[in-house]
Amino acid sequence: MSLPLSGKVAIVTGSSRSIGAAIATKLASQGANVVINYRSGSSAAQGVADAINTEGAGKAIIVQADVSTVVDNQRLVQETVRQLGRLDIVVLNAGIMDMKSPADVTEADFDRHYNTNVKGPLFLAQAAAPHLPAGGRVIFFSTSLSSASSVAPNYLLYVSTKGAIEQISRTLAKEFGPRNITVNTVAPGPIDTDMFRNDKTEQQINFISALHPQKRLGKPEEIANVVAFLTSPEASWVNGQTLRVNGGFVV
Ligand SMILES: NC(=O)c1ccc[n+]([C@@H]2O[C@H](COP(=O)([O-])OP(=O)(O)OC[C@H]3O[C@@H](n4cnc5c(N)ncnc54)[C@H](OP(=O)(O)O)[C@@H]3O)[C@@H](O)[C@H]2O)c1
Repeated sequence: MSLPLSGKVAIVTGSSRSIGAAIATKLASQGANVVINYRSGSSAAQGVADAINTEGAGKAIIVQADVSTVVDNQRLVQETVRQLGRLDIVVLNAGIMDMKSPADVTEADFDRHYNTNVKGPLFLAQAAAPHLPAGGRVIFFSTSLSSASSVAPNYLLYVSTKGAIEQISRTLAKEFGPRNITVNTVAPGPIDTDMFRNDKTEQQINFISALHPQKRLGKPEEIANVVAFLTSPEASWVNGQTLRVNGGFVV
């Protein structure tokens, strides 16, 4: 049986765990060959790749790359094409979020957030562009907080990077559109991952869960399902959009 992504190749940045791992697993289940990327968690990346190669319809390879740097992004694309022969889908999922009061933000904090959340995705999309065929897909990652009516001050750096990436995504949709490549952004609400749980008390987690109509956090698989839709042929007319996937999260 032919699957929607049979014969396609996808890079998913930051796919050694959490949302990225769920996306890579989902795309492989749809027939894609996937690149598992990580920065430092090699054993986690191996676990995701092993599971896909045991159970997935597509196969997985692993490419370590620090996607906050231009040189590693270029190498990631080169390795993908060298090992898998093509590149159809780029999911720019890797991101970081440190909570800090605006008064305490340093230049190093700023550079780390902008390098990982803005510079890296932009230059990976640039490096991938010459390889992407008609029907190609580029999917950036933002946060539902970028449209929240009130955001706590300690999200300052994080939400500002995500605002930038939404603008980059909209602009690249115009640039790549004539080649029939779509560019969209997925903006999750709170999802139960390491990033979300880091630095939060159980009380804070319960409070945030209760802000959802369903009184729970989202799951990585619920984001992966939306990414899978965007990569499918059925999403050919969805372009330049930011999809807020948050269960109706109210902030
Ligand atoms: N979780 C949420 O509530 C939530 C809500 C809204 C938006 N998002 C967005 O969704 C995306 C994924 O979030 P998550 O919660 O799954 O994050 P996470 O639990 O922190 O996982 C991050 C993943 O990205 C990788 N990574 C981080 N920096 C990297 C770098 N420089 N190069 C290569 N890989 C890197 C990590 O690999 P290593 O372990 O090797 O570092 C890990 O695989 C992010 O863009 C985030 O902003 C998340």
